Amino acid sequence: MMKAVIFDLDGVITDTAEFHYKAWKKIADELGIPFDASYNEKLKGVSRMESLCLILDNGPGRDSFTLEEKEKYCEKKNEIYKKQIKDLTPDDVLPGIKDFMQELKKNNILIGLASVSKNAPEIIDRLEIDDLFDYMADARVVKNSKPEPDVFIDNLINLEVDSSDAIGIEDAESGIEAIHRAGMKAVGIGNKIILKNADIVLSSARELTFQKMNSL
Ligand code: BG6
Ligand code: MG
Repeated sequence: MMKAVIFDLDGVITDTAEFHYKAWKKIADELGIPFDASYNEKLKGVSRMESLCLILDNGPGRDSFTLEEKEKYCEKKNEIYKKQIKDLTPDDVLPGIKDFMQELKKNNILIGLASVSKNAPEIIDRLEIDDLFDYMADARVVKNSKPEPDVFIDNLINLEVDSSDAIGIEDAESGIEAIHRAGMKAVGIGNKIILKNADIVLSSARELTFQKMNSL
């Protein structure tokens, strides 16, 4: 029986995945490295430093910069990103998410947050949806970003739910892999080709229903 639903944040609950892309695009342009939306798919769900390294791999390579230089670029990216999230309001929760969460609550299903973003607390705060969660993972203490299962396992432990009684919702290929490696069923929201390994792919959060999830 389904006991918990664990959500990714960026690109699932709100469209901050696009902000991450725009911020990285500025850094890539500054470095003269080709970077487009298709390559950006690889960055979704992975940590800030690993994202930068993936961009550098398309140019001079991740070893051509010192750790200090890489940290500087990560910081610069985060400054650009933070300017964009400053304007988020409760209206920026993607359509369908709140209705689905309320439906889960009515059915006594626990709700968890599995984001590896250190900016997650600020985003959740600006969206004013703190109350809807039974548990939110703290990205500062989660050891490995996706596709490692750490952030989903952390949710399962804290929600005290078995992996077979929980499902995860993701917009990234790395996220689907992380959910599966945690032993859970995976729901993809987005492109059916990119998210082909999910157990079910929906084109938008509007299609999320308790019944559909429970039948997984
Ligand atoms: C994930 C995003 O949620 O968080 C990634 O999908 C991002 O794109 C990662 O790199 C880390 O986020 P932040 O906000 O800590 O740089
Ligand atoms: Mg995401």
